Amino acid sequence: MKGEGIGFGKAILFNEHFVVYGIPAIVSAIGKYTIARVEPYNNSETKLDDNRDATPKYKEDKLKQQRDSLNRMLKAMDIEASKKGVKIELAGNLYAASGIGASAASCVAIARALSEYFNLNLSDDEINNIAYEGEKGYHGTPSGIDNTASTYGGLIWFEKGNPNTMERISLPNPIEIVIGNTGKVADTAVAVAGVRERKEKHHEKYHKIFERARNIAFLARRAFQDEDHEEIGKLMNENHKLLQQIEVSSRELDFLVNIAREYGALGAKLTGGGLGGNMIALTPEKELQEKVANAIEKEGFQTVKTVIGASRGGL
Ligand code: MEV
Repeated sequence: MKGEGIGFGKAILFNEHFVVYGIPAIVSAIGKYTIARVEPYNNSETKLDDNRDATPKYKEDKLKQQRDSLNRMLKAMDIEASKKGVKIELAGNLYAASGIGASAASCVAIARALSEYFNLNLSDDEINNIAYEGEKGYHGTPSGIDNTASTYGGLIWFEKGNPNTMERISLPNPIEIVIGNTGKVADTAVAVAGVRERKEKHHEKYHKIFERARNIAFLARRAFQDEDHEEIGKLMNENHKLLQQIEVSSRELDFLVNIAREYGALGAKLTGGGLGGNMIALTPEKELQEKVANAIEKEGFQTVKTVIGASRGGL
């Protein structure tokens, strides 16, 4: 008996954090993924072998959350304790780091692999719901944007609600991006809690910022439909400014964002929870992508060169 499943990495292009409060956001799967493989294990426990490449300390820092996440998913899948003698291996080419959907990709991959292993025949919607339960182990009250991108792939307009709204944005041509890793592990739950606290304290200031974020989402959607890369880049820059104002950026993130812009990126911003983790730069065409990635790497930071807007995350 064997089971295998895939989950895509993701990059939030617009409105991380704001999305938690129902502001529309735009996310894309990226051409990197996590694979989970399930096989029998001679013991009535669930063993997890995490063989993903990772930012130093990422796996250690997330170990407790990972276990909590797995237990939540087993419960959501109604997999009985007696059946739990399985070994789950995590692999794939998505490095485990903050901000690029590593937790969501692993949840989706594990849910798919378990579904295959136990012949549950779960649909993508069911996998997405189970991965959402798993995400709660990592960050308490997730909006659901990360697991949605990890499950379905492509470029997605997402609004948290009851139910969530998910619409595909179809891009005739995928766009090259560079993702830069600060090398700092960040805790999304802490970042989200900080925004909540400050939002309650500075109600009016935050209200204005949040309303601008909402406008940016609609403008960005139109810019994607018009394939107006300059405009998308400008809006990304403005989105980064809003994220700075709600205090989820960091010195390293701002440093990498500035390098990317200096070397010609049309726009750059932090991506994901912030306070470390990753940033993203819009670099249409291979030549610009190469130039920006080289500039970031020269400063000693790791990059990923990939595209947004490809169906199934560029695979
Ligand atoms: C994390 O990738 C994105 C956040 O908006 C949290 C969430 O949406 O659950 C910071």
